[in-house]
Amino acid sequence: MNAPTPTQWWTSATIYQVYLRSFHDASGDGIGDLRGALEKIDYLQDLGINTLWLAPFYASPNLDAGYDISDYESVNPEQGTIDDLRRLVDAAHARGMRVLADMVMNHTSDKHSWFQASRSSTTNPKRDWYIWRPGRQANGKEPPNNWRSILGPRGWQWDEKTREWYWASFLPCQPDLNYRNPEVQQAMLDVVRRWLAFGFDGFRLDIFHALFKDDSFADNPFSPRILPTEENPDGFLQSFRATLHHPDTLHFARTLRKVVDEFQNPPRFLIGEVFGQPEFLRKYCEGDDGLHAVFLFKAMQTPFGAREYRSLIQEFERDMPAPLLPTWVFGNHDRMRKGERLDHHPGREKLCAASQLTARGIPCIYNGEEIGMRDLPLPLAGAHDPVAGLYGFLPEFVARILHRQGILLNRDACRTPMQWSSAPNAGFTGQGNTPWLPVHPEYASNNVEASSRWVRGRPPPAARRPSRTWARRAPCSSSKRPRSSASSAKRPA
Ligand code: NOJ
Repeated sequence: MNAPTPTQWWTSATIYQVYLRSFHDASGDGIGDLRGALEKIDYLQDLGINTLWLAPFYASPNLDAGYDISDYESVNPEQGTIDDLRRLVDAAHARGMRVLADMVMNHTSDKHSWFQASRSSTTNPKRDWYIWRPGRQANGKEPPNNWRSILGPRGWQWDEKTREWYWASFLPCQPDLNYRNPEVQQAMLDVVRRWLAFGFDGFRLDIFHALFKDDSFADNPFSPRILPTEENPDGFLQSFRATLHHPDTLHFARTLRKVVDEFQNPPRFLIGEVFGQPEFLRKYCEGDDGLHAVFLFKAMQTPFGAREYRSLIQEFERDMPAPLLPTWVFGNHDRMRKGERLDHHPGREKLCAASQLTARGIPCIYNGEEIGMRDLPLPLAGAHDPVAGLYGFLPEFVARILHRQGILLNRDACRTPMQWSSAPNAGFTGQGNTPWLPVHPEYASNNVEASSRWVRGRPPPAARRPSRTWARRAPCSSSKRPRSSASSAKRPA
């Protein structure tokens, strides 16, 4: 008789995404950091979450807020030091929490020494670590094929020095690694081992579905779809058949899992950022030898309503039946905030949190969701987010319309600093410092301190006599002011 499989810790995980840059700034430079997160560790424990996902903390020129890594081995000085990271991970562990690192395997920064070597000449030993192709036409100035990046524009980038094109699934400053080269696989699996040995309990895997590309380099077929959605990455009049969800990526999920399974006590966990229909995405997890879970973004697009949520739960149960684990995601640092989708209706936010935290599966909470933080619509011009730069030619009103549809061209909107209190800068950074993004003006009335007082039964003065903003926004809410949707999250075992 087979021994029963012990229940793994992730089956009762409640993941909380700490978007470090915007979480809490201890150094005073206006950018959130590791020490800042450590100062809030008791708050996180008190909230009842039991798994932290830390946004990238690696060395980076920060052209894509840390998702452009220039050295996987070291910590970005803006975020702190390796000792700060040690203290944060240890403090979380001491409180019974697990910690996931964000692992960006698909691409590096173009400033990474690997890419610098690779682009230096066609004969450099690292040339084949990235995806280089000659162009079409006699002068090679026509890209090798019609492939588009995930963001819409052509994904091939011309390199004048070596007169070839390199492939970038996301931004030009993020060249894709070539996973068909065994040395690349080895190097990245060693990076994974290094951070598991450090003590991370697993990884959130950035755009994992893009890892392998079709090696015939045939054109992607036509698709009538204009814009990709959470459930279908095809768009920009192209089916992404050659560039996303390649069968070799599904196979590599198994290779990665084997490496992760080398580490036990505790066993380690993998959650993939992949886009598509849940019934397809389950392929990444099936058989207990792949990823443990994938983000299911469908909940974000599901209209609020009992019937809609019920059929979503049924759908997730059908497509991710036990022992597979669905995930409950309503927002992250790339998406319109959950509260925006629910029109900041407190009753809806409460009910949504209740279903997120009680349905079978892994709830994934983005920092600030627990107090109903709002997006701050910011202009495309002057944005930190490079995606806004890409679409800067569009009139602002188009960006606003798309935002209302849930498409953020300027992701700064959902990345504003965490609202800790009514102190200057919302307590995110000290008075007199300049936060890297503006604080949402609503912080004076909507912040963690005020919400915590309310939860403990001592409503803040503003709640006793509802502010005009509150009265205006909640015409049919219950008489209580619900602002701590995560306070009922599952406790760590
Ligand atoms: C997905 C991340 O969530 C996003 O913030 C980043 O810009 C892209 N991947 C590229 O790494």
